[in-house]
Amino acid sequence: MNTKIFKAYRVEEGEDGKFVRNIVERNIADLPEGDVLIKIHYAALNYKDALSFSGNKGVTRKYPHTPGIDGVGTVVESKTPKTKAGDKVLVTSYDLGMNTDGAFAEYIRVPAEWVVPIPSGLELKETMILGTAGLTAGIGLHKMEQMGQNPQQGPIVVTGASGGVGSMAVGILAKAGYKVIASTGKANLTDFLKNLGAAEVVDRDFVDDASSRPLMKPEWAGGIDTVGGNTLATLLKGCKSEGNVASCGLVRSPLLSTTVFPFILNGVNLLGLDSANFPMEERLKVWDKLADSWRLPNMDKLTTICKLDELDPHIDAMLEGGSKGRVLVEMDV
Ligand SMILES: NC(=O)c1ccc[n+]([C@@H]2O[C@H](COP(=O)([O-])OP(=O)(O)OC[C@H]3O[C@@H](n4cnc5c(N)ncnc54)[C@H](OP(=O)(O)O)[C@@H]3O)[C@@H](O)[C@H]2O)c1
Repeated sequence: MNTKIFKAYRVEEGEDGKFVRNIVERNIADLPEGDVLIKIHYAALNYKDALSFSGNKGVTRKYPHTPGIDGVGTVVESKTPKTKAGDKVLVTSYDLGMNTDGAFAEYIRVPAEWVVPIPSGLELKETMILGTAGLTAGIGLHKMEQMGQNPQQGPIVVTGASGGVGSMAVGILAKAGYKVIASTGKANLTDFLKNLGAAEVVDRDFVDDASSRPLMKPEWAGGIDTVGGNTLATLLKGCKSEGNVASCGLVRSPLLSTTVFPFILNGVNLLGLDSANFPMEERLKVWDKLADSWRLPNMDKLTTICKLDELDPHIDAMLEGGSKGRVLVEMDV
């Protein structure tokens, strides 16, 4: 049995109910059962990780725990013919980092079904810059286009545009030929969002209709929403006929109060995004597009790279709505 000692970023619940984060030494023998042992090269920070680090039991039921829903690395041991030692692989979604020890560690062990080969044409680092955020934005556009969305219909609004999913959505939509309206609470990031491909940057109030009218003058042909609440309701009210609004997040609110009028008078579609359980066959198609026709130029420009012991302030900033693009942890390999 492999009994190597490795570093992991653990969070545990103190006797006072407060959650404390520490880098600790763990033994590979203590990792969960699984088919594939992977040495992590890069892990990426997502909002779900920030929730897990802060003790949110809707994400992680039991502590101590190692968060980290996104990791890329090299297979060390494999009990399945699907992968072999030395393969470069990606693991996101399913239960990784939620109630299964996650990727803010030098090693993970996971079921074979969770392992995806690094998409052809992408480096390990680029794959992790995309990670769950890029996959989710990609699933959003994939589902919108399955419903007939096209650039000629008009602009697409991205809410929470400065964050992980938001910045990816801005870049991917622009690369796919759409005019993007980026909605943000950070006027100081206008240039950052324009460099990613946003045609227009608006304050988040632009997508926050306070009136009680059921429909607004249509100003956009669709949206990718990471925010929820009245922002999502406004996206639906102001969407052009036969447009598509994809919902993935709840940083503002998990509630949605709407009438049926956007659906029954304008034919607007509300599409749900669940990257964690998105079917593998379709998931691989999205990864292929992310590596090819939707491939983002200059991914480094939207990424902050740190070491495991430098992650703490990024978690706090994310919990306070202060994200900017993607944060990657580079492991010592
Ligand atoms: N369904 C899925 O498969 C899936 C996958 C990934 C993520 N998600 C969800 O998507 C959301 C975003 O995740 P992420 O990793 O991109 O997080 P993130 O990097 O922290 O980005 C969130 C962004 O939302 C905006 N924001 C924060 N607080 C807000 C508030 N009170 N009102 C309005 N906007 C606010 C901010 O952007 P601005 O300052 O630019 O407005 C912030 O940068 C989370 O709810 C996450 O759980 C879901």
